[in-house]
Amino acid sequence: MAYKIAVIKGDGIGPEIIDEAIKVLDAVSAKEGFDLDYKEYLLGGSAVDVFDNPCPDETIKGALNSDAVLFGAIGGPKWDTLPKEKRPETGLLKLRKSLGLFANLRPAIIFDELIDASTLKPEVIKGVDLEVVRELTGGIYFGEPRYKDDNKAYNTMIYSRDEIERIARVAFEEAQKRRKKVTSVDKANVLEVSELWREVVEEVAKEYPEVELEHMYVDNAAMQLVRDPKQFDVILTGNIFGDILSDEASMIVGSIGLLPSASIGGKVGLFEPIHGSAPDIAGQGIANPIATILSAAMMLDYLGENKGAKRIRKAIKEVLRDGYRTKDIANFGAKEVVTTSEMGSLIAEYASK
Ligand code: NAD
Ligand code: IPM
Ligand code: MN
Repeated sequence: MAYKIAVIKGDGIGPEIIDEAIKVLDAVSAKEGFDLDYKEYLLGGSAVDVFDNPCPDETIKGALNSDAVLFGAIGGPKWDTLPKEKRPETGLLKLRKSLGLFANLRPAIIFDELIDASTLKPEVIKGVDLEVVRELTGGIYFGEPRYKDDNKAYNTMIYSRDEIERIARVAFEEAQKRRKKVTSVDKANVLEVSELWREVVEEVAKEYPEVELEHMYVDNAAMQLVRDPKQFDVILTGNIFGDILSDEASMIVGSIGLLPSASIGGKVGLFEPIHGSAPDIAGQGIANPIATILSAAMMLDYLGENKGAKRIRKAIKEVLRDGYRTKDIANFGAKEVVTTSEMGSLIAEYASK
């Protein structure tokens, strides 16, 4: 079997971490007997530099003509002062929207080998296994009207019944495969958009009687995530709350360099780490490629290559068990601090066993 993979390296550490994911994918595909045909496309700052457009049509077409998209990260100070329509972030939002990727799954699973790498106490985090289901193509990110002049600026948080229903279904379906609990996070004590969110989530919940549903205000959820993260199974939330809470959740696991994501809902799934282009460490060979390699594992699951995905996860566990750490997780239990590329090579090697 040969799969067409659209590869978008992006900016900053994007190329460094994607190179490692491809190294691992190549090792795994050779072992499991399938082929991956990669084709590269530009997005974000690197696309602005070449095409003066952060999301060229060619990238959207290439993504749509592939079986899956593997993506690094975009953005950086070089492009921060450009007008909104030229910003790398605008390009990423356009790609997500064009591909219809309304559901972003962001799992946070503790590696026992890294339990001391978290800034939280071991007894608080041991056994954490949660998934943020973030709505990705609506909410305040896309709401109109939006406006800014020198004295006034605004954005609009909009959700329609349909948008809430379909993301809620994804969350309940995920919960059914897991521990059967959905925590819907909103700000219904203040925002009308959250009132509707709650009503619609309640209605969808009726289709899943075996799944427990609770509602939580987002401020409380931010607190509960560090107080007792084990209480969560699936966290269902909107675009901006999900963005914020998943970065927070990454530090339960030990580093933002560890959290992968899958964006689904359209014809083609897109797989990317939750972190950004980390311009502060780009080019130094110290970025943690594991979030991207785990995203590649999610991509293999999506393609039906579950054995390959398992192989990757097992290899990561074993490499960590043997004490290899990138700098971001080096404080605890490191036998050897390795570079981005060494970490990728180790995982590829272990995955070939
Ligand atoms: P960031 O996630 O890029 O970095 C936050 C901090 O985490 C930095 O100190 C960084 O060094 C560290 N970090 C991130 N990934 C890491 C990794 N793999 N290994 C080790 N450390 C890592 O967020 P930011 O600094 O707020 O944003 C930087 C740029 O990235 C901005 O232009 C932003 O818009 C963009 N961004 C893009 C995406 C994306 O492409 N999906 C996501 C978030 C931010
Ligand atoms: C993410 C990023 C993006 C988002 C930005 C870069 C548009 O923070 O993927 O989490 O807010 O969705
Ligand atoms: Mn984010």
